[in-house]
Amino acid sequence: MKITAAITGVHGYVPDYVLTNEELSTMVDTSDEWITSRTGIKERRILKGEGRGTSEMGIQAVKGLLEKTNTRPEDIDLLLCATVTPDFVFPATANLIAAGAGLGHTPSFDLGAACSGFLYALTVGSQFIESGKYRRVIVVGADKMSSIVDYQDRTTCVLFGDGAGAVLLEPSADGFGICDSRLYSDGTGVQHLYQKAGGSKYPPSLETIQNREHFARQEGQAVFKFAVVRMAEAAAEIMERNNLTGDDVAWLVPHQANKRIIDATASRMGIGPEKVMLNIHKYGNTTAATIPLCLWDYESRIKKGDNLVLAAFGGGFTWGAAYVKWGI
Ligand code: ACO
Repeated sequence: MKITAAITGVHGYVPDYVLTNEELSTMVDTSDEWITSRTGIKERRILKGEGRGTSEMGIQAVKGLLEKTNTRPEDIDLLLCATVTPDFVFPATANLIAAGAGLGHTPSFDLGAACSGFLYALTVGSQFIESGKYRRVIVVGADKMSSIVDYQDRTTCVLFGDGAGAVLLEPSADGFGICDSRLYSDGTGVQHLYQKAGGSKYPPSLETIQNREHFARQEGQAVFKFAVVRMAEAAAEIMERNNLTGDDVAWLVPHQANKRIIDATASRMGIGPEKVMLNIHKYGNTTAATIPLCLWDYESRIKKGDNLVLAAFGGGFTWGAAYVKWGI
């Protein structure tokens, strides 16, 4: 009997501060009309205050997850965190989340695949369950995008927000959980979406700071053209591989970068808007957190046995899709 990795719990955390399109319009030359019509975003959450990092949000999400699922911290075998905004270059943010959530000496590591990070981490985490190595794995997607967003650059600052989501994976002998996934990358796309400085290639210097190279930069149109095709392709591929029609799919759980990209994916899959999970209007693009935050938001509406298609696209480029049978 094949063991699959079922999602047996989901929880999320978003900071209290709400940054609205109206407030952004006082910071850069933009408008609620432009942001809403081009992206679907109305507001996003920001983790305000000195010395507050991504781990803080991840810890809240994991603590809530443990409480909700009645799981003792000592019963967790592994914690993975997908993020592009770690608290530090090292140690891993996963280590800090594990410590903060009381997980003791549980192994933990970070994984980076930008906006596809959660999909990648979910796939990696599920392998440990399927192989029988571990029985309880927590997968976190968390990003404090406000720490790398240039609030003088109207082309990026309107897009992103902060948040964290987490899921618990446990073995299922009944076919629930991650049934299939397809992951892709193309590193030739780096210059279209990246944070240039702060890594080993361009370490921090007076020049990198003066040139504002520690902020995320995106050539929106170039990324849009790639994303709109690739995300839809990956979702269609996962449906074909698993003989799913639009009628079989209960929910599309898409990465929330742009409502227009999400609509194109749903249309390629042959599903209506009522089957599409959306939180972009209230959280913006929270990078690795969008998919678990969507699951958290829609949890009460998902039924046991529902077929979910998760799809993402992000910096790298990275993209992919997963077929999940809901098991809670
Ligand atoms: N307010 C007002 N005007 C703006 C703003 C703004 N906030 N931002 C850009 N503009 C202007 C531009 O300057 C441009 O003006 P011009 O025609 O005078 O030159 C005009 O609006 C059109 O700009 P475009 O970039 O062509 O706008 P577009 O319709 O492509 O929308 C967007 C931009 C929303 C960024 C879109 O390109 C997009 O969604 N791209 C993909 C994002 C994505 O999927 N990213 C991957 C995940 S993110 C990650 O991995 C971290």
